Amino acid sequence: MPANKSLLVLPGDGIGPEVIGEVRRVVDWMDKRRAVSFNVEEDLVGGAAIDKHGIPLADATMDKALNVDAVILGAVGGPKWDELPFERKPERGLLRLRKEMQLYANLRPALCFEALVEASSLKPEFVSGLDIMIIRELTGGVYFGEPRGIETLENGERRGINTQVYTTSEIRRVAAVAFELARKRRGKVTSCEKANVMESGVLWRQEVTKLHGESFSDVELEHMYADNAAMQLVRQPKQFDVIVTDNLFGDILSDEAAMLTGSLGMLPSASIGDVDDTGRRKALYEPVHGSAPDIAGEGKANPLATILSFAMALRYTFDHGEDADLIEKAVQQVLARGIRTADIMSPGATLVSTEDMGKALLEELDSLA
Ligand code: NAI
Ligand code: MG
Repeated sequence: MPANKSLLVLPGDGIGPEVIGEVRRVVDWMDKRRAVSFNVEEDLVGGAAIDKHGIPLADATMDKALNVDAVILGAVGGPKWDELPFERKPERGLLRLRKEMQLYANLRPALCFEALVEASSLKPEFVSGLDIMIIRELTGGVYFGEPRGIETLENGERRGINTQVYTTSEIRRVAAVAFELARKRRGKVTSCEKANVMESGVLWRQEVTKLHGESFSDVELEHMYADNAAMQLVRQPKQFDVIVTDNLFGDILSDEAAMLTGSLGMLPSASIGDVDDTGRRKALYEPVHGSAPDIAGEGKANPLATILSFAMALRYTFDHGEDADLIEKAVQQVLARGIRTADIMSPGATLVSTEDMGKALLEELDSLA
């Protein structure tokens, strides 16, 4: 099998290298056992890059990121670099990647693993079988809109300003991602804004409706006010398939949805951008969690969030959904066997290290393939 898919792996800091190490084993397994093959390159990001190059992302690394099929990142940051000025911090490396790759759609699944149903704060019947996808617009909206800042008024009062701004093209491109994804899933999109009180929400609703009529009328479209969506997510989460929303509401709704199913150590994500001249859609896959300095180097980290991020790469970048299914099934089975890292430990289960979790997963993959 020729190494036809290119993957840039950026372990980063803290537990990043530990969890990425287990992803590399899964990549190798895919290489050997499945009809997919990767050309993997590894490089530095975050504090690791600061230590070597003095900056959190070298230009050469940025170039590589722009020229591969997908980037997989562990995590960046840690106390060692906390004193650095904001522009030189490890986190800037990740921000540069997102910005230069123009990753405008952030995909956050909320997937319930049967063995962890009991860990949810909701009753089992509400989360069992849950599989929803939240798409958050990532490069526009109130976090970036102008004018912004803090000003002092003539009467001496101070005023803080942020502005919600969306153009039609910004709305349409993220909505298109949602509709395309829904086609690969259960065919339903819920678009969330506050069109009742915000003009940007009115435009959002109009543009999503228009695009739906033009190109995606086979997908079911529903509009919902974002505050109602927040309620519905905890009331009846299984009514949703794909949710698409702006940067601010998406920040909140994606965290809310993620917690329906439990631990930070289980949560993958993808950030995707435009299709370039060569037909590639820019994509960065990473766990939702950070570098966890409190447990770094101790072999305690749960590698499943990062492994599930690789599964998302298989599904959304490489169009190997069946291999993504295989990984998700293997995760279900490992958990069903009672194998747990500390973050998802439960009474009677077996506590294992990062590496042993990775190995157990490979055993399940072997048994499934
Ligand atoms: P964190 O996600 O690193 O850790 C929060 C808590 O969850 C910690 O107790 C940690 O031990 C635990 N945890 C996280 N991932 C885990 C895993 N895979 N397995 C088991 N336990 C896990 O968030 P925190 O503590 O706020 O930030 C730590 C550092 O990470 C900071 O420097 C922060 O800036 C950075 N960070 C980086 C992110 C990224 O690279 N995308 C995202 C969030 C934070
Ligand atoms: Mg957040």
